[in-house]
Amino acid sequence: MRRFMCTVVVALIASACSGGTRAETGELPASGRYELGRAATAAEIAAQDIDIGPDGLGLPAGSGTVAQGAMVFGAQCASCHGVRGEGISPFPQLIGREPRAGFPFGRDPRAVKTIGNYWPYATTLFDYVRRAMPQLTPGSLSDDEVYAVTAWLLAQNEVIAGDVVLNAETLRLVKMPARDRFVVDDRKGGPEIR
Ligand code: HEC
Repeated sequence: MRRFMCTVVVALIASACSGGTRAETGELPASGRYELGRAATAAEIAAQDIDIGPDGLGLPAGSGTVAQGAMVFGAQCASCHGVRGEGISPFPQLIGREPRAGFPFGRDPRAVKTIGNYWPYATTLFDYVRRAMPQLTPGSLSDDEVYAVTAWLLAQNEVIAGDVVLNAETLRLVKMPARDRFVVDDRKGGPEIR
């Protein structure tokens, strides 16, 4: 019986392979090394290539107001982050400016980091929300909705006024409270000094 099973398995593998390799059919492999997969299409690359630089490079067209963002947040975010962005455990708190003096995060693990007290770039908020939130349906918000909810979060964190309309131009000009707490690590040398 066992020998019969082996024969059947070998026969199945042989028949699976008998369709002809790419080399035989003339189809070009995406990778010359493994002959697996295919080259990504321009549309597939564009869907993934959505990173935004700290200076706003890559921000898309569109705009949103704080009031529109309140609607987006209530419908799409509050179930996890709380209606006031206070965070419903285990989901993170998003709003809060305390402590306003000092920057204790490196030495006090209990200090809660928020957008308002920790994030150095407002453009990162747009990038992050667009690619990662809502957690269960990332990528589902329109660019206008992302601008709007970004505006609401920045206003609630006392970073922008309630009447600001966010778009690519206005968002790149927003200076975060913790901006100067971060510096580019330009020290020379190997990993031992980092
Ligand atoms: C299903 C629950 C859920 C929903 C809904 C949700 N989030 Fe989140 N969010 C999370 C979780 C979990 C994290 C932490 C992810 C991690 O650390 O990897 C997070 C992290 C974040 C962060 C980063 C917080 C930080 O300081 O590190 C932001 C900003 C954020 N969410 C914004 C939003 C916005 C805006 C929406 C609505 C459009 C939203 N989230 C909807 C679960 C959710």
